[in-house]
Amino acid sequence: MVDFTLTDEQKSLRELAHDFAAKEIRPKAWEYDRDGTWPQDIIDKAHEVGLMNTHVPEEYGGAGLSYLDGCLIEEELAWGCSGIQTSLGANGLAGAPILLGGSEEVQREYFGELVESPKLASFCLTEPDAGSDVSGMRTRAVRKGDKYVINGSKCFITNGGYADFFTVYAKTDPDAGHRGISAFLVRKDDTVIVDKKEDKMGQRASNTATITFNDTEVDAKYLLGEENKGFKLAMMTLDRTRPGVAAMATGIARAAFEFATEYSKERVQFGVPIAMHQAIQFIIADMATKVHLSRLATWNSAVLLDQGRRNTLESSHAKRFAADTAMEVTTDAVQVYGGYGFIKDYPVEKLMRDAKIMQLYEGTSQIQRLVIARETLLPRRVDEPATVAV
Ligand code: CAA
Repeated sequence: MVDFTLTDEQKSLRELAHDFAAKEIRPKAWEYDRDGTWPQDIIDKAHEVGLMNTHVPEEYGGAGLSYLDGCLIEEELAWGCSGIQTSLGANGLAGAPILLGGSEEVQREYFGELVESPKLASFCLTEPDAGSDVSGMRTRAVRKGDKYVINGSKCFITNGGYADFFTVYAKTDPDAGHRGISAFLVRKDDTVIVDKKEDKMGQRASNTATITFNDTEVDAKYLLGEENKGFKLAMMTLDRTRPGVAAMATGIARAAFEFATEYSKERVQFGVPIAMHQAIQFIIADMATKVHLSRLATWNSAVLLDQGRRNTLESSHAKRFAADTAMEVTTDAVQVYGGYGFIKDYPVEKLMRDAKIMQLYEGTSQIQRLVIARETLLPRRVDEPATVAV
């Protein structure tokens, strides 16, 4: 039976996240966006109430929540501010390869520290010349005895300037293309240099930095999965995190939809609220449908993971549709506000700027279409498991 009814626990979780977004995030979101303020106060509080590190297994002190649970939280927090949620959620992206490929000892050490205090971790995949084309990366890791030495630069790294840990992808066999990449858990030290903080169009409260690894030494036990299997680890990670990005995009779109709906009932033109004009009603109706379908696609992609099934196709469907929806719905919200929508005193221009990154990070909308086309033209078995050996 297909049933999207949430359990009482899931409803409480959603309520907790919504209250947090309404009381702790929303009141500061527009100010933090304007000033590019790092939201450490909100990170500390979110950690305290259990809205970070939600996928950390119970045996390491975490809540061990499901992927669907995570999406419920992510939609609400992004409804508050997707920039702040990007900072709150980045530990999940950095932690996924550790869950997939870290030894018991490494998981206990790493997750134990994250649960103990509001430490941050960053996922270091992208490089200046290797964005969509992951296997074009140049960062090198060379084995020396029982250590690896890492050299190279990663860009667009979420929370990079504040992270204590980094999940780093590097070439261990430079001539082997995607089969020559390995992943490592790296702890911040003096050889890890924060080169540049980006001045961004949207999500201005989140930190995005360039990180350089300068002869950074890592004990071989921090190799995640097998040597040269890092590319698959990255792909399996993104299968697990794209539903969360889709949930965030749904949260942005829902916020814009709610603002536009309320405004349309207040703003009077031609003697009646603009919500009485069919031109506006059709915009509102399309927004409502798109938000609804984004959420359904998101939940579907998360539930497959919770069932232990591979969701590559469905997570790309969800991420692509919800990201494009966020862009369309926020743009339409500006349209409903008319000239006021273009002005910073009103809330929707921030949402439109924030929405843009949804079509870019964790795989552009074009990369999602590429994955969808491949998965559609070369269909896999429906019972394929979510995890392959790495
Ligand atoms: N699960 C398991 N294995 C997978 C897989 C998946 N989802 N997808 C691919 N693979 C395997 C393939 O089976 C293949 O295996 P073999 O070596 O056995 O043949 C191997 O991986 C290579 O696959 P492809 O030939 O499909 O690889 P490709 O080079 O053509 O790339 C791609 C595919 C989809 C374009 C991929 O590179 C991609 O997703 N690019 C986008 C990267 C991305 O999302 N970057 C965002 C970074 S995170 C971020 O945004 C930072 C932040 O802080 C928010």
